[in-house]
Amino acid sequence: MSRVKGDFRYRQVMDVIVNMMKSGVLNPGDKVPSLRKISEEQGVSISTAMQAYMELESVGMLEARPQSGFYVASGTSVPREPVTTSRPLDQPTQVKKSDLIQTILYAITDPDMVPLGCAIPSTDLLPHKELTSIMRRILSDDTEARVEYGDVKGNKFFRQQLAHYMNANGNSVSSEQLIVTNGASEAMTMALRALTRPGDLVIMESPSYFGFMHLLETAKIYALELPTSPIGGILMNDFRNALDRYDVKAVLVQPNHGNPMGQVYPDDTREEMVKLCNKKDIPIIEDDINGDFTFSGRRYGNLKKYDKNGNVIHISSFSKSLAPGFRVGWVEPGKYHEEILRQKIAGTMASNDIMQLTLAHYLASGKFSRHLRRMNSNFKAQVETYTYHILKNFPEGTRVTRPKGGFVLWAEMPEQVDTLDMYPRALNEKISFSPGGIFTSQQKYNNCMRINCGFPWDARMERSITRLGELAKDYL
Ligand SMILES: Cc1ncc(COP(=O)(O)O)c(C=O)c1O
Repeated sequence: MSRVKGDFRYRQVMDVIVNMMKSGVLNPGDKVPSLRKISEEQGVSISTAMQAYMELESVGMLEARPQSGFYVASGTSVPREPVTTSRPLDQPTQVKKSDLIQTILYAITDPDMVPLGCAIPSTDLLPHKELTSIMRRILSDDTEARVEYGDVKGNKFFRQQLAHYMNANGNSVSSEQLIVTNGASEAMTMALRALTRPGDLVIMESPSYFGFMHLLETAKIYALELPTSPIGGILMNDFRNALDRYDVKAVLVQPNHGNPMGQVYPDDTREEMVKLCNKKDIPIIEDDINGDFTFSGRRYGNLKKYDKNGNVIHISSFSKSLAPGFRVGWVEPGKYHEEILRQKIAGTMASNDIMQLTLAHYLASGKFSRHLRRMNSNFKAQVETYTYHILKNFPEGTRVTRPKGGFVLWAEMPEQVDTLDMYPRALNEKISFSPGGIFTSQQKYNNCMRINCGFPWDARMERSITRLGELAKDYL
């Protein structure tokens, strides 16, 4: 009997603290009331209060600091349910989302818009001063060469630096195997054009980056979206079945910190996916644009590691880590090199040489890895703070992803919330976000939204997240 009573009392203290967090009386980093104070207030012994605090510490909500007491952990502090594994309809779908996606992209360039919509980092986190001074040097050194056409495959020095950077991340690639592109977007367009024809079918995660939807729509390709876990990516049972049932022309995945849900594929999934596709000669397009953004310091590898046949097409860019406006990305096309290079020549002939050279000199300076470490530590803290405020302000029952890297969050709200309807209302108040419905070819995820956490937390962000929560609550 007394155990039950003791149980009740320490839980009562836990509830008091959790409610203080939920209501915003306590925020991440705040000192919680001392053991003496809470025990007096709640009429419990110090050891009961201690038990409550230790319990909250064990689930990551509080942090004990030696000689100082207990603090609200800098991470998420409100207990939460995980985001559910997606269940898209098991049928190929024609994509029709372009108009809405374009409206969202236009909002990026509005300086008055609160930038919670597109997945972009704050320019304060980018080394723009260093890049500008490198570019100035390049322009003053050799002005004639700078106005000529560059190599179709990309600037040689840049490709060498790129190969060096990729190999430092566990790949095995030579500069001759790389083709430089205008961002990852052009690489993706080239790969899809080389591998598919209108009416073909491509397997994708669900939800998937909305740029893929736009691309499939313009290329008239059907999407076969598969159930996807926010933790480990596409469910392999569904993947196997899909390969057996459909004539799939390509697979498009983000194995590292996928946008929007943050999934990281386990090693055995990667290995099996590559093996199955190699057996059926189905190319896999691996978008690794978020691969560098890892909170643990451990960078996950690439699908190429398991690929002995050159069947994986690896794509990435420096748009998120260095300079989105430079429009520099690349593709390592494996055995599809000739077809994909032909697309580059047909499409844009070559990429901008000055931008590539600027990035090449930056990579050669050896500063990139320190820059990434700094960026990742900012992203980690930002993602935690945004998560905390979303859970505090969004409707009861909201679930938010727990990414191990990247800088976006996927919030799943109660079914009644309609983020497509809410989008123009938020835009009217100069707040952008990405409604869940644009991350799928189907009529789904209207109760979801993606939030960009690439900007440091400040009063404007706090007002905007609070306001989005209020707008969402109007649907309940
Ligand atoms: C997953 C993913 N792939 C590709 C891109 C496009 O990248 P880029 O700007 O290099 O074309 C983005 C940009 O948001 C993205 O999030």
